[in-house]
Amino acid sequence: MKLNIALLAGDGIGPEVIDQAVKVSDAVAEKFGHEITWKPALTGATAIDAVGEPYPDETHDICKSSDAVLFGAIGDPKYDNDPSAPVRPEQGLLKMRKALGLFANVRPTFVFPSLLDKSPLKKERIEGTDLVFLRELTGGIYFGEKGRRDDRNTAYDNCVYTKEEVTRLARKGFELAMQRSKRLCCVDKANVLETSRLWRETVQGLEAEYPEVTVSYEFVDAVAMRLVQWPSDYDVLITENLFGDILTDEASVISGSMGLMPSASLGSEIGLFEPIHGSYPQAAGKNIANPMATVLSAAMMFENFGLAEEGKVIREAVNKALDEGMVTEDLSDGGKAYGTSEVGDWLAANI
Ligand code: IPM
Ligand code: MN
Repeated sequence: MKLNIALLAGDGIGPEVIDQAVKVSDAVAEKFGHEITWKPALTGATAIDAVGEPYPDETHDICKSSDAVLFGAIGDPKYDNDPSAPVRPEQGLLKMRKALGLFANVRPTFVFPSLLDKSPLKKERIEGTDLVFLRELTGGIYFGEKGRRDDRNTAYDNCVYTKEEVTRLARKGFELAMQRSKRLCCVDKANVLETSRLWRETVQGLEAEYPEVTVSYEFVDAVAMRLVQWPSDYDVLITENLFGDILTDEASVISGSMGLMPSASLGSEIGLFEPIHGSYPQAAGKNIANPMATVLSAAMMFENFGLAEEGKVIREAVNKALDEGMVTEDLSDGGKAYGTSEVGDWLAANI
């Protein structure tokens, strides 16, 4: 297969972890006879510094003409401490999600047998965890009208959803549940929020079309609690944008390191694949960041092209690295820690 992949390394540790995902993907391509053309493009604070905006038109054109986007990380502390900054790196990511129609963010949480002791949660609680969040990504409070009133002393962010937006995300949830254990949890706050009542009503309306799927409806606050108590109770969870943002960070802790969890953003022909962690600026340039979440995002990319075997060899290489202690310092537990690029080299060599 010939693949054109837009490569958006972004900020902080983004370039370092992306380099490893490229090495690993190239090794996979060589093994299976694919041809990948990487097309680097600017995004985030790096793009603001270079051309004044976080998702330049040129980057959008490169993404649009590619088969997929592999993304590193976005964010720079110089903007976090300046609430009045007129342009922020994160705006680039939001603009890109909207412009590419990526409404469904697939965020799996699973555990690695060799890392069960690394999780802050008790082993017997997390054993067998294998769940997937489908987070709505282009609506809700992230994209509703926002602003200031009363001499800037009052601020508002509106949460808006249409039935159509909920339906297309919920259908993806039902379809995913059909491929898995046929259990779907709709996470909302329908006891308080009108948008949540629309979500619940819409999902209820779809139940008859998927008679094999058992749907549960749970409030987001209860899910936040039960997720860390009994994670293996869950399988597929669907939720709106902000709830999904918060719960997927929480869920990533279950696996033992945020540096392990990949994600895919889908919705149009061009999928975007990225680690769920941020730009970790304190580690940038130090060759210490864990590249595995980005490498596993590349696995999701191959799988999304229907190349299941290719995805599998990446997952197997990552498992082997974890079993053999070929890990970065976040997982080394005081033992030998390897550099970001050493881990990438090892994975590519093993593929
Ligand atoms: C994420 C991130 C983004 C989000 C930020 C960087 C805008 O936290 O992908 O989860 O809030 O969606
Ligand atoms: Mn987030």
